Formats: sequence, C-alpha cells, structure tokens
Amino acid sequence: MLSLSRAVVAGVTRVPAAVSQAGVSAITRFNSTAQSTPKKTTFGPLADEDRIFTNLYGRHDWRLKGALRRGDWYKTKEILLKGVDWILNEIKVSGLRGRGGAGFPNRHEVELYEQAQPKYLVVNADEGEPGTCKDREIMRNDPHKLVEGCLIAGRAMGARAAYIYIRGEFYNESSNLQVAINEAYAAGLIGKNACGSGYDFDVFVMRGAGAYICGEETALIESLEGKQGKPRLKPPFPADVGVFGCPTTVANVETVSVAPTICRRGGSWFVGFGRERNSGTKLFNISGHVNHPCTVEEEMSSPSEGPHRETCGWSARRLG
Ligand SMILES: Cc1cc2nc3c(=O)[nH]c(=O)nc-3n(C[C@H](O)[C@H](O)[C@H](O)COP(=O)(O)O)c2cc1C
Repeated sequence: MLSLSRAVVAGVTRVPAAVSQAGVSAITRFNSTAQSTPKKTTFGPLADEDRIFTNLYGRHDWRLKGALRRGDWYKTKEILLKGVDWILNEIKVSGLRGRGGAGFPNRHEVELYEQAQPKYLVVNADEGEPGTCKDREIMRNDPHKLVEGCLIAGRAMGARAAYIYIRGEFYNESSNLQVAINEAYAAGLIGKNACGSGYDFDVFVMRGAGAYICGEETALIESLEGKQGKPRLKPPFPADVGVFGCPTTVANVETVSVAPTICRRGGSWFVGFGRERNSGTKLFNISGHVNHPCTVEEEMSSPSEGPHRETCGWSARRLG
C-alpha cells in the first residue's frame, strides 16, 4: 500500500474500496497530463485561414515579393514599437511551447529573457532527428517567416543578433534562407534601424557539418564558436553563459517562425487551438507505412483518424 507521502509524490489518490461501486478503487491522477473534465474535446481539421505556414509545399514564390503577398512583414514596425512587454505578453498568452522536441514552455524562456536579458538569439535549425523535416520546409519555402520571427523574438529578448545554425546537409535551404536575409537587409527590414523602428538587429547563417549531437543546444553553441560540437556541462546554462560567453536563448525554427503571426493575430487566437497546456497549431511530419508521406500543419492534439487519414492514407493515434 502506498504511504501518504509516496501517494502525494506519485500524485495518486486512492478512493476507499467501499466507495467504489464495482469494488475496484477509483484512481485520480494529478500529474501533468491528466485532466478531470477536458474543456475541449474536438480537434481539427484546421481551416485554411488559420494556417500559419501558407507555402509549406513551395507552390508559391518564397522570396520577399511572395512573402509580402502572404502577409509576412505586415506592420512589423508597429509590433516592434508596441514594446518588449507587449510582445512577451502575447507569447505568454499564446501558451506557445518550444517546437524543438522537448516542448519546453516558452513561459520559462520568457521569464529567463526578463531576468537575464540575453544578448543573442540562436535558432536551432539542425533538425537531425530521423523522420523530422518540418523546419526544412519552413526554410526552403517560407524563409521570410523565420527571418521576421528572428527580429521579433530577438527584440523581445533584447538580443543584438540572431545566429541561425543550420544542418550542413541542408544546402538548398541555407541558400534560400541567405537570399531571404539579403532581401530583408536590402529592404531595410533588418540591419540598422530594422523596419524603421530604431532597433538594430543582424541575422547570420552558420552551416553545421551534419553532426546529430550539434542539435543539442550547448553542443550547437560550441560548434557555432568554431569548436568541436560537444555538449557543455550545465550549469552555467546558455541563458547565463551562451554563445561567445554572452547570455543566449536557443530556440527551434518553428518556435521562432510562429512569433510574428501570434503577435499579429494575438496570443488568444493561438491559444484557442489544441488543448490546455498543449495549445496552438503545429507542423507534423507523417512518414513510414503511409501512402503519402507529408508535412501538415494541424491543431495540437488533433487525432490522426480525421484529416490525416485522408492526407497521408493511414491512421495513427493522436498527434502532438
Ligand atoms: C541530442 C539532441 C539533439 C537535438 N536536436 C535538436 C534539433 O535538431 N532541433 C531542435 O530544435 N532541437 C534539438 N534538440 C533540443 C535542443 O537542445 C533545444 O532544447 C531546443 O533547440 C530548444 O528550442 P525550443 O525551446 O524552441 O524547442 C536536441 C536535443 C538533444 C539532446
């Protein structure tokens, strides 16, 4: 039998058998995933007007002209001028969690930003995990979303510059990204007085050499500094001592790329998708034993039996 303290630690409460009708003890869990009454029980399919990534399949122009037509860089100056607190609040309200795999709540990152005032934003574009190719689609088909995201996320952190560390094998993606960065510089969207906001912000691309471990944030930082990509001991954490010894935040490509749309449409719009503590829309890669391997943007918690069965020709359990 569980002692009271262990029951508390395990987050489990046992109801006496007498109370239970079938004689089987009812168990209520108070862990991070269980919820008593779900507030929302139906998910997806996502309406086209709610998609953030509208050129996922590269059917349209990925350069600046096409990006502007799709709504990127719209009123970016106004967003920047609304100030750091406003941007941070929208991200907090949105419930956005890191899209790099661990689902790190951005609330914590935001708090770190507030405390430590990182000087650099490092974008993790290493994407070495087998079967993942979502960041790749962003960089080759919608690179301006990432460049604009760097500016807005960088502003929120008080960063001077963003370094995008991209997997070595992603040659075409890094090339498209560099073209987008050059276009943004030429149009005055980044660089000195970015978007006319009075804020100076640079974006650099650094190509890795294809080592999986360089996706880990501290190994990535080592590699970015020109050393062997080996993880550092923590602490100190990158938020205190990161790239070139300066406070740094490492964030995934998708996490950064959704920031402009969240600011334009509002954190409350984003938090309306998915479920509590797992909100928003998300890119999913579907591969393996399916008829049509694909990348789709869907609501978090979307069951694959619905839209995904038609899209990829196979049904799994729940996504995200
Ligand atoms: C071995 C290893 C490989 C990783 N590879 C990646 C990767 O390819 N892309 C990524 O975004 N995060 C990767 N991560 C997670 C990063 O260390 C880091 O948590 C992430 O970039 C933070 O971004 P987010 O908060 O936006 O998710 C990896 C972690 C480990 C331990």
